[in-house]
Amino acid sequence: MLVIEAVDLRRTYRTTTGVIRRRPLDVEAVRGVSFAVEQGELFGLLGPNGAGKTTTIKMLITLLLPTSGDARVLGMDVVSQARDVRKRIGYVFGGDRGLYERLSARDNLRYFAELYGVSGKAQRTRIDEVLELVGLKGREQERVEGYSRGMRQRLHIARGILHDPEVVFLDEPTIGVDPVGARELRQTIADLIAAGKTVLLTTHYMFEADALCDRIAVIAKGEIVGEGTPAALKAGVAEGRVTEIEVFGVDDGVLSRLRVVDGVRAVTVEERDQKQLLVVQCAADRELTAPLLAQLDGFEVGRVTSREPTLEDAYVALVGAGD
Ligand SMILES: Nc1ncnc2c1ncn2[C@@H]1O[C@H](COP(=O)(O)OP(=O)(O)OP(=O)(O)O)[C@@H](O)[C@H]1O
Ligand SMILES: [Mg+2]
Repeated sequence: MLVIEAVDLRRTYRTTTGVIRRRPLDVEAVRGVSFAVEQGELFGLLGPNGAGKTTTIKMLITLLLPTSGDARVLGMDVVSQARDVRKRIGYVFGGDRGLYERLSARDNLRYFAELYGVSGKAQRTRIDEVLELVGLKGREQERVEGYSRGMRQRLHIARGILHDPEVVFLDEPTIGVDPVGARELRQTIADLIAAGKTVLLTTHYMFEADALCDRIAVIAKGEIVGEGTPAALKAGVAEGRVTEIEVFGVDDGVLSRLRVVDGVRAVTVEERDQKQLLVVQCAADRELTAPLLAQLDGFEVGRVTSREPTLEDAYVALVGAGD
């Protein structure tokens, strides 16, 4: 069953530009986005800042009206059946505020449970369930003011799933959380899937998307530029191998020469301290180290490594291709 369906979704923000003389300005944040998420899937939406991820999520959770296009969640239209959609979804935004600092986690959840209409006998059981699910059992009597960012974020997820929604939207859930906290959060997200939920997630951390997501859509400038399983994305875009070469002081001329070496698909440069790191995507069946180094004759070359492509390579290739 399809749980989330977006068909040619568009959203234009009408705003103004200019300080003294204000002129109207249309920002096309989402420009014809279509995708579908199956039940029980963990679907990732990746893309640079301003790509339109949050705007897409806000339309799906009925917080923002689409300018055009259609979206259905659990078979219900997000515009005409918004109220019904809201009852059956949960959402959490990264860096969310709005917890009561002086209350314990349990009392916070009690408050939100009342707000969402989970009351009476069911409330206690449900609160215990969600505390267990997000791994805060045993800490629930402590005041939130003493909670770490990761714990707060897990409490937010607990809040977001109190009413037992079938679909959960997580917009950058691990932002600002330390590596250990983020790892625990990822476990919580995996547990949501294990508990039978469907999850739509955005993140800027590629290894996180790679580890968690069943399928991913990469969005850039309001449009989907790539879609598939992490493995398919890696294979499709960064097909073959990646050779990394540390060099000092390369110029554009060298880059253009490297790009036309037979078997080279793409070359990008990352600045590292005093040196540069050339990331060269090569065809699978070629050993290009020697011809690449031949082009770098006369330059000081550091470490040379050859590795499998990562999701980040695929992402950079997809997002960069749209420029
Ligand atoms: N309320 C608004 N008014 C005007 N423009 C907006 C508004 N909200 C978002 N935008 C613009 O829409 C575009 C998409 O923004 P959006 O927040 O959806 O991106 P995003 O992919 O979530 O980015 P990030 O990774 O930074 O969270 C951006 O150009 C942004 O400036
Ligand atoms: Mg966003």
